[in-house]
Amino acid sequence: MENDATPRLGNLSAARFTSQLLAWNDRLSRNLPWRGDRDPYRIWISEVMLQQTRVETVKPYYSRWLQRFPSISHVARAAEDEILKAWEGLGYYRRARLFHQACKQIIRDHHGAVPDNPEAFRQLPGVGPYTYAAVRSICFHDPLPAVDGNLKRIMARILALSANGSALHRTVERTLATVIPVHRPGDFNQAMMDLGATVCTPRDPRCGECPISDSCQAHFSGQVDLYPRPTKRKPRPHVPVAVGIIWRDSQLLIRRRPPEGLLGGLWEFPGGKVEPGESPEQTVVREVQEELGLKVQIMDRIGTVRHAYSHFSITLHAFHCKYTDRGAIPQNGSDYRWISWDEISHFPFPKANHKLFPLIEGNAPPRDQQL
Ligand code: ADE
Repeated sequence: MENDATPRLGNLSAARFTSQLLAWNDRLSRNLPWRGDRDPYRIWISEVMLQQTRVETVKPYYSRWLQRFPSISHVARAAEDEILKAWEGLGYYRRARLFHQACKQIIRDHHGAVPDNPEAFRQLPGVGPYTYAAVRSICFHDPLPAVDGNLKRIMARILALSANGSALHRTVERTLATVIPVHRPGDFNQAMMDLGATVCTPRDPRCGECPISDSCQAHFSGQVDLYPRPTKRKPRPHVPVAVGIIWRDSQLLIRRRPPEGLLGGLWEFPGGKVEPGESPEQTVVREVQEELGLKVQIMDRIGTVRHAYSHFSITLHAFHCKYTDRGAIPQNGSDYRWISWDEISHFPFPKANHKLFPLIEGNAPPRDQQL
């Protein structure tokens, strides 16, 4: 019997909601490489990779990562370039840099093990409310809802919530905190994530297969498509950029992006944003002069590629260049490197740059144009 004091979710008691969800999970949970594991290091890195990134994309990165860095001390000992190289293509590189810092801190302050003290874990770089709740619920059985986009969408539909953005987040967190079962909080969170990914999908949800559709107000009223309410999307800016492949003998110059900001810490070819009224060739000459103090001359046009990142899209023009002034050559260091073409794969580059690689390879400058 359900008594009136039992928390309710839509038309169901919380107890029935969770038992139906967990029974569905036990029958159909996805076979993912991190499932069933309770090791805090492995669960933590899986959750960091899974933020903003699809499961299918994460799977190969996750396996490669654990081969390359089987423990926290392997991460802590690695150079930042090795970390970013292992992350190359996953995006949101700040996650990787913060995880690296956190592992170094754990070696320094916590004897090399993820602290089981919740506060100490929460204080580590990059551990926000989502990661905290996911790792604590899966590895330590803390009854904390790990609220991601899936959980918000499911709950907006179950309760027909018209809030969106941070108001929806708060309501979902508060509601689920009263519902999450103390005996299986990690399974509850992961069952909700799976339900959101496979059944209660953003478009064309499969309500016929949903184990909790009998508690879903949006389903009852035939209005599943109306929830969650859309948030205003910021338009994605488009940025035209021009870069120079600057040759010295058979080496070319690359530079590292500043650690903070977009694509932070990755390597790139020198250049910058094409200003209005400027040709891409002029941009390369101006930017290289401004940023490196180096005079260059354009030789061949290599080509143009386009790429859409999550927050902006880019058109990237590339040119072979030679420098005309030997006076102020950037030296090898942490921000600039002269490398041979064969070494390029050792450095982490943004995806748009990768699209240039085959064009550069198929269009090496004539040797007499290399200084
Ligand atoms: N998305 C984020 N964390 C996840 C997990 N543990 N399982 C499936 N999808 C996820």
